[in-house]
Amino acid sequence: MRRIPTRGRSKAEILRDLESFRAEDVDWRSGRTWAYVYDPGPEAEEVIKEAYMMYLSENGLDPTAFPSALHLERELVAMAASHLRGDENVVGNFTSGGTESILLAVKTARDWARAHRPHIREPEIVLPVTAHAAFQKAAHYFCLKPVLVPVDPTTFKADPERMAAAITENTILLVGSAVSYAHGVVDPIRELGELAQRHGLLLHVDACMGGFLLPYFRRLGAPVPDFEFHVPGVTSISMDFHKYAFAAKGASVILYRSPELRQYQIFTCATWTGYTMINPTVQSTKSAGPLAAAWAVLNFFGDEGYLELARKVLEATRYLAREIERIPGLRLLAEPEMNLIAFTSDEVNVFQIVDEMKVRGWYVQPQLSFGGSKENIHLSVNPANVKWVDALLADLRASVEAARRAQMEDIGQLREMLLGLDWQQLSPEMLRNMLAVAGAGSGLPQRMAAISSLLNQLPPEAAERLLTVYFNDLYRPAKEQERA
Ligand SMILES: Cc1ncc(COP(=O)(O)O)c(C=O)c1O
Repeated sequence: MRRIPTRGRSKAEILRDLESFRAEDVDWRSGRTWAYVYDPGPEAEEVIKEAYMMYLSENGLDPTAFPSALHLERELVAMAASHLRGDENVVGNFTSGGTESILLAVKTARDWARAHRPHIREPEIVLPVTAHAAFQKAAHYFCLKPVLVPVDPTTFKADPERMAAAITENTILLVGSAVSYAHGVVDPIRELGELAQRHGLLLHVDACMGGFLLPYFRRLGAPVPDFEFHVPGVTSISMDFHKYAFAAKGASVILYRSPELRQYQIFTCATWTGYTMINPTVQSTKSAGPLAAAWAVLNFFGDEGYLELARKVLEATRYLAREIERIPGLRLLAEPEMNLIAFTSDEVNVFQIVDEMKVRGWYVQPQLSFGGSKENIHLSVNPANVKWVDALLADLRASVEAARRAQMEDIGQLREMLLGLDWQQLSPEMLRNMLAVAGAGSGLPQRMAAISSLLNQLPPEAAERLLTVYFNDLYRPAKEQERA
């Protein structure tokens, strides 16, 4: 196993190593990666980095020791609240990302229900199947029952009638998205707000992806449904700065309609021997770097700058969506309401298309089928991608044709075998063998179509078990002889 080096190494050597480790990463700087990175361009990047480094070592744990961090957070929360049409009552906190914001919203709902609905013993949260997986993670962490509700099969938006039917006497929270990650559509938040009010429930709007950009799209004339705090019944909203505000990673905000609700988020502990612990968020010690970088980028672009970025992205998304529909063999899964496009094929294996695109130098994201949503390819259109739209389309056409011709190993037999198994009983060794048969032995596979196709066809609990074993192996300690 790798040990701490005996002697310290030079800065040059260290930086060279760090650079070399990135060789196999997706090449996001080129603008040919359509996921994961929200690139604001080199000028903004410089400002973000300097701000981040300036606050790298300041600790957000204690606002009395670092009032600068408190000041930055209060400013960011205010900007977010006004962007999302909140009034003076709206409060919130800066968090490390969408998942932390969602975890906090769900934990707050649980503790609110403990205070206001004490008779509920097994609290439930009602989620459209399109709600981000972070809500199921939160339910898992905080011992709540997630109730998954099918969405409209053509628009992929939450269906208020089905949501209503899923409400029981144990329900504490409803969830809607603006936009959903998979399909890029806005749930009917007004109807969900009415539903929440009728039943005396909380309603969280997950605007991690859309909260920042959608108001700009609306100002540009796009038909964006209301999802913000002016909608009656909305009690909390999460919005990520590290997505379409282009902040450095580790930047999101969770907002509540009132401080009365937010109090359930805060954890305090005076029953130990150390410093008094008061944590509004999940993290305790935290660098103020992401906070400073988010504050910096909002000030760098300003409202006008963001509107311009939004205009570029909106035009490119519309063009791309129309052109994808014209490619024989492809169709859009849903009509995009922001800049996320999900498309699929009824003729060609989409996972083969993803691999073919990779060969041609693109990263596009595969999504497995679930809950009436067919397997598909997902594109997030960023400012850095805009100049590549026509090149992407040309390679997409070629990739569809190449995928038509490609022979894929037949996994039918393996699948038949797998479907008859009791997944919980299988040893990790047997699961590893199955992964190897599907082309994902040790390490990271180059071509993913066979493994994606297999996962796509398995029951979700089987896919989850396989992936757990795989990741449990992937994150093993580095061996001494492993050199970059
Ligand atoms: C709609 C939505 N909610 C939540 C999240 C989770 O955000 P994060 O990856 O920052 O934890 C995402 C991430 O893409 C998202 O799209």
